Parts: sequence; C-alpha cells; structure tokens
Amino acid sequence: MPVSNTKKIRKAIIPIAGKGTRFLPATKVIPKEVIPIINIPMIYYVVMEAVEAGLDQIIFVTSKGKNAVADFFDRHLELETFLEKKGDKNRLELIRATAEIARIMTVTQKEQLGLGHAIAQVEELIEENERFCVLLGDDLIIGKNRPGIGQLMDISDKYDRSSVIGVMEVPIDEVHKYGVIKGTPVSGDARTHKITGMVEKPKKEEAPSRLATPGRYVLNSKIFDYLKKIPRGAGGEYQLTDAINEMAQQHPFYAHQFEGDRFDTGQPVGYLEAVVDFALKDHELREDFIKVLQKRLPLNGIHKL
Ligand code: G1P
Repeated sequence: MPVSNTKKIRKAIIPIAGKGTRFLPATKVIPKEVIPIINIPMIYYVVMEAVEAGLDQIIFVTSKGKNAVADFFDRHLELETFLEKKGDKNRLELIRATAEIARIMTVTQKEQLGLGHAIAQVEELIEENERFCVLLGDDLIIGKNRPGIGQLMDISDKYDRSSVIGVMEVPIDEVHKYGVIKGTPVSGDARTHKITGMVEKPKKEEAPSRLATPGRYVLNSKIFDYLKKIPRGAGGEYQLTDAINEMAQQHPFYAHQFEGDRFDTGQPVGYLEAVVDFALKDHELREDFIKVLQKRLPLNGIHKL
C-alpha cells in the first residue's frame, strides 16, 4: 500500500473555475485570475506562494474561458523573439520566468457545483494517504518569514502529518463570508487549534468562533471519502467545509493562525488595497505614487506613508 503520507508535500490545487462576477464586466472577457496588480496577474502571487513553500506541482481546477491563465504560465515564442531582437533582456527574462515557475497541470470542472466538488475533481491525481495543499485565489497572503501555505505545511509536519487549515480572526460581522472553525487551542502553541467542527458561512449568532479561513488548506487524501458523502450545503453547493467538519470528527485536524499580510482581492476594495500596498513597496513606483496620492488625498498625515 502506498504510504505517501511520509513524503514531502508537493502538490498545490488551485481552483479557478469561478465566474468572477464581482469583477464584471471585465470578467466577461478575461478571467479574474489574470487581472493584474500593477503588471502581475493576481494568480501569479498565489502560484508563487505555493512554489516558495516548496510545492512544485500546480494543479488548476478550471472551467471554460480560463485559457488566459494557462497561457500566462506557458512560453510565448513570438514575444520572446520580438524582445530578443530588441535586446530587451530584462523583459525577456520576465516573460520566460513565468513559464518555468513550476509544473502546471489543468483539470476541468465541467459543472460548477461548489468548492467541495472542485476539489473532488483531482482525486485521481492524489495517491492514497498523500497530503496536498489547496490555495484559493481570492486572497493574497504575503507571509512574514515563510509563505502562508508553508506555515501550514510546517504545522502539518509538526503534528504527525495531520490536515491543517489556515485561519485568521475576523470581525463577528464578517463571519458570514467564510468557513469558520470550532476548536480548542493547543497548549503551548497559541496560534494553533485542534478543530472539532467547521461551519460554512454561519450567521453571526451561530458562528462557533471568529476564526475564519481565507482559503488555505493542507489536506490528507482521506478528504475525498468525505467529499463523496456530503450533501449540498450553504448556497446549494458541495462545500469543502462540510467535508472537513465530518473528517475532523474522525481524524486529527488543526487550524493555524498564520503570520503575514492578507488581501481580500476577491473584493474590489481588497483588490485596491493590494494595488496601493504593492505600489508603495515598489522602489521604482513608490515616490511618484506617493506624489499622486498626495495630490488626490490632501489629508494630514499622508506624507508619512
Ligand atoms: C470559499 C470557502 C470558504 C472560505 C472562503 C475564503 O468561499 O467556501 O470556506 O472561507 O472561500 O475566501 P467563497 O468565498 O468562494 O464563497
């Protein structure tokens, strides 16, 4: 029997089948994943988080109309020739690097029946007892010293290769947007909790805690057994949260509050926050950008940026 659970975690599942309705009408013609933060598509940061954590197989769960995502991670020979002739080495390196980042695979989700259904599509690619990661593209997580997903992989290794969900504390008025955990803190490890249950998008009166997941998971392949059993849940969809809730009754499952910045790029305001933050951290843009902000927002204190 394969005992892949002892192996290093290598696979990142990134579901990208969503319609991106919050970014309509742009998403009528371009997938929301390739909407850029300045010049870099959002999906690149999610893939980089996985790669920097040590994952080298990226599996997109995709749907119709998402070819631009696969194209972004492919070579573009015509453009390469053009930049080569121009002698533009920097840009040439830039566009080649995106094609060499990792091994990218694509699995199609023919019907959009929810996140649980999307994850169930990769069952054939995961060995028995193998651990794998899931990263949702709506949030950008910029880890402090280690990528967000890497912090969860470390916790999985620390706690006997258990499954782990990334969580963050959210205001009670926002719990209805997330999968929320019920758990007890692990003694001596303040940021880690043993999960006893999980609820998808609870009303604030029913939320078991304020610890919500922004969509980062390390899962054991046993999750597929539970994904097969769950009925449709919140929003009439097959929810990964419901499968986790069931699995946590029978197998050790942890939640970990990772360290770092998080941008809710699934929402226009979170997206703008990311653009502003990234621009302020970009050495070439920073000074000019601050001048623009000062012009637009003549507020006290803006000069302190
Ligand atoms: C999904 C998950 C939810 C999670 C959220 C994070 O919901 O089902 O548990 O908290 O992503 O963004 P969605 O936002 O796709 O409705």
